[in-house]
Amino acid sequence: MLEKPTEIENAEGKLGVLVVGLGAVSTTLISGIMSVRKGDSLPFGSLTQMGRIRLGKRSDNNMPLIKEFVELAELDDLEFSAWDIFEENAYEAAKRAGVLKTSDIDKVKDELENIVPRKAVFDRKFVKNLNGTNVKQAKTLMQKAEQLMEDITVFNKEKNIARNVMIWCGSTEIFIKPTDVHKNLLNFEDGLKNNSPDISSSMIYAYAALKMGIPFINGAPNLTVDIPALYELALENNVPVAGKDFKTGQTLMKTILAPGFKARLVGVDGWFSTNILGNRDGEVLDDPESFKTKEVSKLSVLDSIFHPEMFPELYKELYHKVRINYYPPRGDNKESWDNIDIFGWLGYPMQIKINFLCSDSILAAPVALDLILFMDLAKRSKMRGIQEWLSFYFKSPMTFPGVYPENDLFAQLIKLKNTLRFLKGADLITHLGNEYYD
Ligand SMILES: NC(=O)c1ccc[n+]([C@@H]2O[C@H](COP(=O)([O-])OP(=O)(O)OC[C@H]3O[C@@H](n4cnc5c(N)ncnc54)[C@H](O)[C@@H]3O)[C@@H](O)[C@H]2O)c1
Repeated sequence: MLEKPTEIENAEGKLGVLVVGLGAVSTTLISGIMSVRKGDSLPFGSLTQMGRIRLGKRSDNNMPLIKEFVELAELDDLEFSAWDIFEENAYEAAKRAGVLKTSDIDKVKDELENIVPRKAVFDRKFVKNLNGTNVKQAKTLMQKAEQLMEDITVFNKEKNIARNVMIWCGSTEIFIKPTDVHKNLLNFEDGLKNNSPDISSSMIYAYAALKMGIPFINGAPNLTVDIPALYELALENNVPVAGKDFKTGQTLMKTILAPGFKARLVGVDGWFSTNILGNRDGEVLDDPESFKTKEVSKLSVLDSIFHPEMFPELYKELYHKVRINYYPPRGDNKESWDNIDIFGWLGYPMQIKINFLCSDSILAAPVALDLILFMDLAKRSKMRGIQEWLSFYFKSPMTFPGVYPENDLFAQLIKLKNTLRFLKGADLITHLGNEYYD
């Protein structure tokens, strides 16, 4: 992290966005950006495009757009390249994903058809329910990492790219725990050369990006870049990293509601969350080993908001359960139900029911866009390693080892905006408000 604000490099030239996985989230993101660029829609949900930031006192009435306050890459300067295990181009993939209407996708058909996925680094061991043929072959994992770097070099040359950001929008991999190979960079590079079974496909992409000094964003709950070996590489090469798992849908609702209960010291006995979804993500999560990775990510949010160890009378007995069921008829239109058992004064019980008919990728696309632009800003501001100020966007935010994550959406937003003020040398806003009454 930075100790003091530095000069921010300008955002001139094209930003090459390297997308891993051409599925529901990424095609919704790309189609949406193209539609906004044409002036056909507005970028709803995106803080970088529509959000404002207060500067100075409330009485100053100074609230510029964030994109006017900090220099971000322009949407017109974004150029996309992708990898996927299937050969469908972005137009075909967007139609198959079924998030957007064909009539909307058709409006940007030509641009989408130009995005043809490169061969992926993929090992079925890590995503059991998928099988594709658009896959790189090489003797070692290190050679596969080198092939990815070569892909990036070719793309950058072809499109005259000034800077890159890589974003993982690929599938959820099986749950893995860190082992010796993840402990430091030396072990990790040995593992790449000797085909360690503990190095997942997503880690190889992250390694390739960091090796080239490219910021890496992890939109899935996979371990990926959340290992000491890759933190080491990020610090060594001065690259920012951010993850894990885009915060959308049910978890977004949880981190909106739970801080409210906690603020009013309302107790919670139980929180039962169940979902049905029928897209490819749902199919992947139908495998118990991939579901386990998602479950850990989804379950983690309440503890760091409620702090049961400090508030045992209110939250110690909380029974938290999360289920996801694959149900093809729904496609990308997920439906979730939450039953929350709460209690108040004298322990009297109450219940809250939430039925969210949600299009996850509609919520994920602006999150992905903001992350791309803010990670490019972080890199140009010489910020390196874990970018905790971007926790706002993640279900399971990465933090420095030993520091618990901040999951309260509102605390996360304050942190994000104060980081922007800090970068620009503006006064931080503490919300103390004494100055109005002096
Ligand atoms: N849909 C959401 O709103 C949402 C929210 C939070 C997190 N996520 C996570 O984001 C990721 C993408 O979600 P989605 O709904 O777009 O899923 P999706 O299944 O539609 O797309 C994922 C794509 O990644 C590809 N892929 C898998 N492994 C790959 C590899 N090694 N290299 C290249 N491509 C690979 C798949 O072929 C697929 O096309 C998932 O991990 C999901 O859990 C999604």
